[in-house]
Amino acid sequence: MKSALKVGIVGLGRLGQRHAVNLAWHVPGATLNAACSPVAAERDWAAANLPELALYSDYTRMLEDASIDAVWLVTPTSLHADQIIAALRAGKHVFCEKPLSLDLAQCDRVIEVSAQYRHLQVMIGFVRRFDPSYRDAFDKIQEGAIGRSFMVRSQTCDKNDPDGFFVRFAPTSGGLFLDCSVHDIDLARWLLGNPRVTRVFASGTIAIHEGLRDCGDIDNGVAICEFEGGRIAVFQASRTMAHGHDTQTEVIGTAGALSVGRNPRANRVEIFDATGVRNECTPTFFERFEHAFLKEAEAFVASLNGGPPTGLTLDDAREATRIGIAMRESLTRGEAVNF
Ligand SMILES: NC(=O)c1ccc[n+]([C@@H]2O[C@H](COP(=O)([O-])OP(=O)(O)OC[C@H]3O[C@@H](n4cnc5c(N)ncnc54)[C@H](O)[C@@H]3O)[C@@H](O)[C@H]2O)c1
Repeated sequence: MKSALKVGIVGLGRLGQRHAVNLAWHVPGATLNAACSPVAAERDWAAANLPELALYSDYTRMLEDASIDAVWLVTPTSLHADQIIAALRAGKHVFCEKPLSLDLAQCDRVIEVSAQYRHLQVMIGFVRRFDPSYRDAFDKIQEGAIGRSFMVRSQTCDKNDPDGFFVRFAPTSGGLFLDCSVHDIDLARWLLGNPRVTRVFASGTIAIHEGLRDCGDIDNGVAICEFEGGRIAVFQASRTMAHGHDTQTEVIGTAGALSVGRNPRANRVEIFDATGVRNECTPTFFERFEHAFLKEAEAFVASLNGGPPTGLTLDDAREATRIGIAMRESLTRGEAVNF
């Protein structure tokens, strides 16, 4: 029997701890052998909450550990490109959270280096492709259930956080479009059959969080993205929803439409009271995509253990960044960006 894939996780913050728990206990074919964070409190968390493993404060030191087959990068986006390249040079497979980078030249550098290490795989975590509902919608489109799909409407809208966590996060996240809409961009390309983008127009506003103005960001935005062959996508992103995390997508075809997540309910309980009939709402992206994060890890580990490819390429990740950058440029310049 093939021995389990030995994984080292890097970054134990908001999302890294979730990935670590999945890899430690729930992903067949993998074991979590190491964790790395420069923050002592996060390493303490790992020692207390994960099975026995090697702990590193320095990523370079972790890469010297010859027993590790793959690294799992859940670090600030501004570090992704350099950390992926270092891992490849150290002979490790790489999972890296989205987006690949905020800079197109950095994306190209990763693609170039990755081509020199063809025996190693790199996957960027566009988690929605592994969500069972999005996967079902994709399969139905492939089977022709809605005819020829030509339009996607997709949104990523977070619950308002009065503490303004993302205001502090904004300078390294790339802003609303590159941090949030990058998911919708990847979905639209996937669901429409990877068409070539031709033109983008974006607009936005600050509804609540004035602190975003200093780094040129917004808390609510919309964008239109035109693709070749008359295909089109409309995106919306928000940091200020009152009701909760509301991610939903509609795909429109010549013979029907599919909708994923139209009611962002937390569960199937309906409450009947003096205010009317209602559902509670999913609070954050994690509750909505908890199962998809596990499926994503399972799919990548299976692929590294000789299973089918995940279908997600570095070119897909580069294209999502390219379109996200164009949306940000369009917002700043107040005019459409033509490709
Ligand atoms: N797929 C999704 O839906 C989704 C959701 C949230 C975040 N993300 C992505 O995950 C990544 C991390 O986001 P987060 O919210 O967990 O951020 P975070 O700030 O909570 O965590 C970042 C982690 O990286 C660690 N770190 C910082 N510098 C490091 C270094 N030089 N070497 C090793 N570790 C280092 C920090 O100690 C921390 O543990 C981002 O790229 C973000 O875009 C994806």
